[in-house]
Amino acid sequence: MSENKLNLAVFISGRGSNLQSLIDACKDENYPAQIAAVLSNKPDVQGLERAKKANIPTITVSHKDYETKQSFEGAMLEALKDYPIDFICLAGFMRILSPHFINHWPDKIINIHPSLLPEYKGLNTHERALADGKKEAGCTIHYVVPEMDSGPIVMQKKVPILGDDTPKTLAERVLEQEHIAYPEAVRLLAKAKS
Ligand code: GRF
Repeated sequence: MSENKLNLAVFISGRGSNLQSLIDACKDENYPAQIAAVLSNKPDVQGLERAKKANIPTITVSHKDYETKQSFEGAMLEALKDYPIDFICLAGFMRILSPHFINHWPDKIINIHPSLLPEYKGLNTHERALADGKKEAGCTIHYVVPEMDSGPIVMQKKVPILGDDTPKTLAERVLEQEHIAYPEAVRLLAKAKS
């Protein structure tokens, strides 16, 4: 671990393809960030395998093991204490963080969302964009605030919606841009803080 880089914790719940884009970006020695830990709220997900393969420490805190959000988040905060975390990247993390958790990391948590926010907050973004006859879709990296999918925008990437798109084909086109956007956004933020 280099001393001058921004230390990231990446939070995931599944596939971890955005995590992979960050892992790949961090392989460049000139990239200004590094991943100190990957946290998942689900055991046995592909993203954890990706982290292990890259020799990144993993933390699993299953929300199912806790009766309240407060105790679940308390366990996450406790586990993160073992790592030097400057910044948290939510990458397909499917739990909504409480204001209490967010206030532990003011302006230091970002999320990637598969729509051009403020349009289509929440789930099923591609289905909804297609149903509305939209011509453009995309992804957004934004700061996390207590209101879901609503914090200040760091970066957006757009893609066209094509006539024969299905939610799946559109999701694939957007995901390609997500994988470009997340490492770019982290680079921007790391440079701004250095
Ligand atoms: C991505 O589409 C991301 O925008 C959304 O959840 C999905 C996670 O995919 N928040 P992956 O786990 O990074 O492959």
